[in-house]
This record gives sequence, structure tokens and C-alpha cells, in this order.
Amino acid sequence: MSKRRYVTAVAADQVATVTIDRQKKLNALNPEVISEIDAVFAEIGDDPAVRSVVLTGAGERAFVAGADIGVLAKMDPIGGVEVSRAGQEVFRRIERFPKPVIAAVGGYALGGGCELALACHLRVASEKARFGLPEVGLGIIPGYGGTARLARLVGLGRATELILTGGMIDGARASEIGLANMVVPHAELMERARELAARIAANAPIAVRLALASLYRAEESAIEHSLAFEANLFGLLASTADMKEGMSAFLEKRRPVFGGS
Ligand code: COA
Repeated sequence: MSKRRYVTAVAADQVATVTIDRQKKLNALNPEVISEIDAVFAEIGDDPAVRSVVLTGAGERAFVAGADIGVLAKMDPIGGVEVSRAGQEVFRRIERFPKPVIAAVGGYALGGGCELALACHLRVASEKARFGLPEVGLGIIPGYGGTARLARLVGLGRATELILTGGMIDGARASEIGLANMVVPHAELMERARELAARIAANAPIAVRLALASLYRAEESAIEHSLAFEANLFGLLASTADMKEGMSAFLEKRRPVFGGS
């Protein structure tokens, strides 16, 4: 579907698999990798045949082992702000992506790699996953949304512990504390992540999209605004052919077929 130097996308059965492949550096994020991720997601966003996305890292060792420390080592203060903002913007576009994005993590998800997984909507970890935010050991802090997003999933106490110690946790522990949605045997990682993506893709696409929008709006605003937003989206869905199809299928005791309109 799409092949660039470091990031590829392949679509099958309404699920796109996006793979970051810079294996010699454990898939570390240099500016080129980050801009390729952005370009590939823009392409998938426009493709009506894709209803959900699995994002992973190539090779057996890493999802993404962080921002490229070779690049970070040369930054000056203004450059540091720019590096952080540039990554944050791309990750924010993933978080706001209209189709669900599932991170499949089977190795190191450190620093920017952990933050990339946090920007995805769901995370499937294998037993070999290693999550961590080691930035304070390098004299910096997480700069791609880690301090803003981690507590949302695991609570402030656990987020503080992970960020201040810089320690790593495995897939089982990540699942225990809510950082990963599930932990699966390593050999089944991609199959299980695609299975989850396919289950979502079988639902009404506009409803899935608006459910995501409502969930994330609620994270960012007061309850009265969130409830009003939810009610409006709820009502809006009555205009879709898929709502009629979903409800008719239920009443007629058959499986719905959603066309995405
Ligand atoms: N940036 C740049 N290069 C990185 C990298 C990163 N974040 N993570 C790994 N690499 C490179 C290593 O420099 C090495 O390159 P080389 O072969 O040219 O020397 C290669 O990837 C393999 O890594 P290596 O450290 O040799 O593997 P390991 O098994 O000994 O250790 C890690 C694996 C993940 C524990 C270790 O690479 C590490 O700590 N990486 C940095 C993680 C980090 O701090 N990320 C946050 C950055 S803000």
C-alpha cells in the first residue's frame, strides 16, 4: 500500500498494518522516521478501505527504542523545543486519528517509543514487551507527550514512579496497571492485534469514529461539556444508513453489514 524508507503500510481486510523499520537502531525515531509516520497516517486516513490500524516495530527486539539520542545530543534550547513540538504534533495527529490505532508492542517501547504507544488508542503487548521512560537518566524529560498522557492510563502515582525512576516494566506488568490493554504470547502478537483491529472494523465506522471523539473529548473537558458533546454525536448518528442497518439487523436476527455511511 505504501513504502517509504523507514515506514511501510500494508492493508488487508479493512485493517492497515504500519511498520516502523529501522532495525539497526532498534527503530529509534529520527526526524525522517517521524515525518514518514505522519505521511503514512495521512494516506491511511484518506483510504476508505481502511477501518482500523495496527502500528508496530520491525524485528524481534523493539517496538521503538526512543527518540534518536544521536540527534537529541546535538540540540540547543530552541532546537529542543522544536524537536519536542514536532514529535508532539505527529503523535497528536495519531491520537486524533479518525480510525482506531492499536500499538502492537513486542519489544522495547522506551522514551518516544513508549510515548508513541501512549498516543495510540489501544496497546497490545507481548510477554517480551519492555515499556519505560528513561529520559531523566539522560538529563531530559519525556518530550513527546509522556508526562501528559501516562497518568491518564495508569494514575498519577504509577506514572510518577515510572517517569522518575526511568525503570522498565514488562508486558504483564504493563497490562496489570492499564498501560497495555492485554498481554499475549509473543508468537501471537500480530495475530492478536489484528484480531482486535478486525473486531473493531466490523462495527459501524462512523459510530466508532464518533465514540473515539467523544471518549477523548471527555478526557479534555468538563463533564457538562462532554455530556453535551456526547448527546449531539448520539443524535447525529441517527442520520446514518449504518444506524438503520445495525438496528434492522438486530430486529431481523441477522449480522449487520456496515457500509460506512
Ligand atoms: N537512539 C539512538 N540509537 C539507539 C537508540 C536510541 N534511542 N536505542 C538504541 N539505539 C542503537 C544503539 O546505539 C545501537 O547502535 P550501534 O549498534 O550503532 O551502536 C543499536 O541501537 C542497538 O542497541 P544496543 O544499545 O547495542 O542494544 P542493547 O541490547 O545493548 O540495549 C537498549 C538495548 C534498548 C536497552 C538500549 O539500546 C538503550 O538503552 N537505548 C536507549 C533507550 C532510551 O534511552 N530511549 C529514550 C531516548 S529519549
